[in-house]
Amino acid sequence: MSTDKPTVFVTRQIPAMGLEAIARVAEMRVHEKPMPPTRQELLQGVQGCAGILSLLSDRIDSEVFDAAGANLRVVSNFAVGYNNIDVTEAKRRDISVGNTPDVLTDATADIAVALILAAARRLREAADGVIHGQWKTWEPLGWIGMDLRGKTLGIVGMGRIGQATAERLVHGWQMKLLYTSRSPKPDVDRQLGGRHVALDELLSDSDVISVHVSLSPETRHLINAEALSKVKLNTVLVNTSRGEVIDQMALVTALKKQQLFAAGLDVCDPEPLPVNHPLLELPNCIVLPHIGSATVSARNAMAQRAARNLIAGIQGQPLPFAVHQSHLHTHPTNQT
Ligand code: DGY
Repeated sequence: MSTDKPTVFVTRQIPAMGLEAIARVAEMRVHEKPMPPTRQELLQGVQGCAGILSLLSDRIDSEVFDAAGANLRVVSNFAVGYNNIDVTEAKRRDISVGNTPDVLTDATADIAVALILAAARRLREAADGVIHGQWKTWEPLGWIGMDLRGKTLGIVGMGRIGQATAERLVHGWQMKLLYTSRSPKPDVDRQLGGRHVALDELLSDSDVISVHVSLSPETRHLINAEALSKVKLNTVLVNTSRGEVIDQMALVTALKKQQLFAAGLDVCDPEPLPVNHPLLELPNCIVLPHIGSATVSARNAMAQRAARNLIAGIQGQPLPFAVHQSHLHTHPTNQT
């Protein structure tokens, strides 16, 4: 049955409050399966759509734009990161792109701190030890980890999540703070005693390194074998941004050689990480299934922001959370 409402494709079930808002103004196709749409399902699903609500696991590129056709006005990503979207191509075609900043900052910073503590205090090894019967007695020399208080924290990429992670560790554990970012951040320097440094200095002087840069051609394998060779012994490395920022095979080597004390990863390359991946055999590495934003309030707020971006885009309005704003044009179905 045809309606006057523009059609949108939502590539997965998201929290209901997002879907309900979209359903009020759009003809909604939702990919209902638990796994992401296959390429074929994606290309079919977007046909004739004015909007796409995508997840970080959906590659949105010129092939998808072609499949959607001339009606496509907006791609709204259910994530703050948008490396899955070819934004250059979206700009060329005057398609708006939106994301969901801010609302997952605290949840993700909490996971970064959780991983830092887990890696520093060897929680994976200790918990595995309990399960595998290695807990024979209270051991004065067993499961010895690393203290954080007063140590140096290196934040690679001082954006919103990097700063929220630094706030927790500077205020909670009195860590000294080094950071990289495109330019110094006077607020961070004043409020957290941070020092803007080059990556090499951060690598060689930090006890804990937490990675928060977004993924781009410049940051792909930013932490490679050469970078890892610069860290001091007994450093903890944590990544909650995108897996591709770290060269994982170089990380495996560094962990095996105990060049690093331990690593904690919420993101991997690829995702999901195959269960036979060498990283998973290392006792000094803890890997989580990309759960940085997995809290009720963060995911509900992401759904609301993604829905607002999608609705604004199909209605020819400015996106409230825009990565790229198209030149505004009213969707044909809204013209009087
Ligand atoms: C994002 O929004 O980019 C996060 O990685 C999702 O948790």
